[in-house]
Amino acid sequence: MIEKVKHRSFYTRALEIFMEEYRQNLEEKGEFSVAFSGGNTPKPLFGMIAREDVDWSRVHVFIVDERYLPPDHKDSNYNHLYEELLSKVDIPPKNVRYVKHMESLEMSRLEYQYEVEKFFREKGEGFDLILLGMGIDGHTASLFPDNIHMEDLVVPSLEGDTHKYSRISMGIECINKCRKKVFLLGKNKKEVLEELGHIRYPAAYVKGDVRFVLEV
Ligand code: 6PG
Repeated sequence: MIEKVKHRSFYTRALEIFMEEYRQNLEEKGEFSVAFSGGNTPKPLFGMIAREDVDWSRVHVFIVDERYLPPDHKDSNYNHLYEELLSKVDIPPKNVRYVKHMESLEMSRLEYQYEVEKFFREKGEGFDLILLGMGIDGHTASLFPDNIHMEDLVVPSLEGDTHKYSRISMGIECINKCRKKVFLLGKNKKEVLEELGHIRYPAAYVKGDVRFVLEV
């Protein structure tokens, strides 16, 4: 489903969706799990969520993908989420899982995959909500044509011509286990979204309850 939202209401609508999912899951099962993507689009939303009345002791936060960088690096997705949201709310550290910067990309991948697998096993399902973005090349998370078919829950994504830094990313299997997938797309993503219907971009592999919120 594509929801076209005027620029002035785009982030308000994104916040509404987040809070709807939070409230519904708290009502249903007393907790809520959400995975946040990086990139520029979601940053203003993080600060808005920080100002909401949320019982953070019942919220589990994951990172969708991460550059292979220390968590305090200026380009780290976790760092952006921490600065804009996590540092401003009273969330128990055990409720936040992020990619640890270990001695190798593979060690970081394996450690994060262990955290994701453990959570899925304990809850018997994927995350309640995953917030995704999409590049103008049709990538999502850090999934590009060369790693979209990997089976692991968490996959490596090596630095390429289109993207700086090697990364660790939730794989398409992991993303598709999530109950609700919401793409937040700035107005510059209109064309790539239209192409998604007939070009097998990585983002086209996201299936299930998928919603595209497009700024117009
Ligand atoms: C990342 C994101 C990535 C992002 C898209 C769109 O780590 O960069 O996970 O998939 O969502 O590149 O980025 P923008 O929101 O900045 O356009």
